[in-house]
Amino acid sequence: MPEQPANRWDQRYDHPRYYYGEEPNAFLAAHLPALPPGTLLCLAEGEGRNAVFAASLGHRVLAVDSSAVGRRKALDLAARRGVTLDYRCADVLVDDWAVDPWVGRAWDAIVLCFAHLEPGDAERMHARAAAALAPGGRLLLNSFSKAQFGRASGGPPRLDWLHDLATLRGQFPGVAWERAVEREVELAEGAGHRGAAMVIEMVGRRG
Ligand SMILES: C[S@@+](CC[C@H](N)C(=O)[O-])C[C@H]1O[C@@H](n2cnc3c(N)ncnc32)[C@H](O)[C@@H]1O
Repeated sequence: MPEQPANRWDQRYDHPRYYYGEEPNAFLAAHLPALPPGTLLCLAEGEGRNAVFAASLGHRVLAVDSSAVGRRKALDLAARRGVTLDYRCADVLVDDWAVDPWVGRAWDAIVLCFAHLEPGDAERMHARAAAALAPGGRLLLNSFSKAQFGRASGGPPRLDWLHDLATLRGQFPGVAWERAVEREVELAEGAGHRGAAMVIEMVGRRG
């Protein structure tokens, strides 16, 4: 696919180093290995660190992100790690990722890692993600909470793009939460996420 005109994420990622590093997010590294291998969708996946990790665990992975540079780097990381994944360069609000592209089933797992969008768009994406899960399908979410506002360790500089645990809990109809916490963690994810940060961690299951 020819690369689209550069967006601001392309510009951020257009560097030999990976902006958020090549290793998976620590919350996902802790929780993904507990899932049985299946189909797994990573929304707003960026440079592919989490998709590559999921593929290394035996999941069949589709990543979706609007950054063409992110896609190229994700596929390069996958090749270097000896795993395969599919990666669509697309807008998560427009692309139809409701079912997997291989057999057309709802997803066994969906990952949202720092997938911050403007509030109305985020709410729509979250509702679509909940609806796209198979019965028993798992939802893993890691994001910055509103308490992160003003900190330099990462995240959007807009309060309304940051998340609130109570609001998030209600944005995934049909998903029961096994873990839903806000806490302070020490991030060491490339140059992009570094230092003490306030995050939300959620693990859910579609009923
Ligand atoms: C903070 S980065 C997170 C990247 C990745 N999930 C990670 O944790 O390494 C946010 C990502 O969201 C993507 N993004 C933002 N809005 C998007 C949209 N409407 N459709 C697809 N991707 C989008 C950006 O391209 C960027 O890669």
